[in-house]
Amino acid sequence: MSKFKKALLCSIAPMLVAGMLGVTTQAVASGERLYGRFTKDNELYAPRDYREWVFIGASVTPNDMNDGAAAFPEFHNVYIDPGSYAHWKKTGEFRSGTVIVKELASIGTKEAPSGHGYFQGEYGGIAAMVKDAKRYADKPGNWAYFGFSADSRHGAIQEESACSACHQQNAAQDQVFTQFYPVLRAAKP
Ligand code: HEC
Repeated sequence: MSKFKKALLCSIAPMLVAGMLGVTTQAVASGERLYGRFTKDNELYAPRDYREWVFIGASVTPNDMNDGAAAFPEFHNVYIDPGSYAHWKKTGEFRSGTVIVKELASIGTKEAPSGHGYFQGEYGGIAAMVKDAKRYADKPGNWAYFGFSADSRHGAIQEESACSACHQQNAAQDQVFTQFYPVLRAAKP
């Protein structure tokens, strides 16, 4: 190989590598895109595609184990947006921009071919929590909590006493009940 060709290769090779790195960096950056959409009053529009996000767990607090009056008597199917899951995998933290959706499903039958138990019935709406350092700078941990009614496209921010207080006191990490999500614990670095 001529001296000239060698020199040319030496100068092109790092550019190629840098080009490849550039692509990788971009892919990571797009994986970190933000998923929440908000009204001008910072209320969260009901996320449309949350069932395509990362499913982290399902808890159930049935009435018949809670003196007939559970606070949340349904299954809670919980999803985190993919960008925030990617951030969690890297850092073990919930980034500013995290959206977590809790989808409610009623308890259906208690008998199935697999045995006695609790099996999901019908879809019953969603609740959500969003961490945003700018939008919710004045809220503990920068988390806002949302309740959704069937006739509104966006959630209503809930009083601290209605949601956040219990989460602050009892959740294992940053107001999220990671103690009930093996999926999150397994992905934590
Ligand atoms: C008395 C305590 C308590 C109150 C009040 C409460 N939560 Fe929770 N929440 C929990 C627990 C415990 C879990 C996890 C286990 C489960 O789903 O039952 C949870 C789970 C969640 C999750 C899934 C993410 C996570 O942290 O596990 C969301 C979203 C959520 N709650 C939103 C709300 C909203 C919105 C309100 C107010 C309308 C609210 N919560 C009120 C105790 C509470």
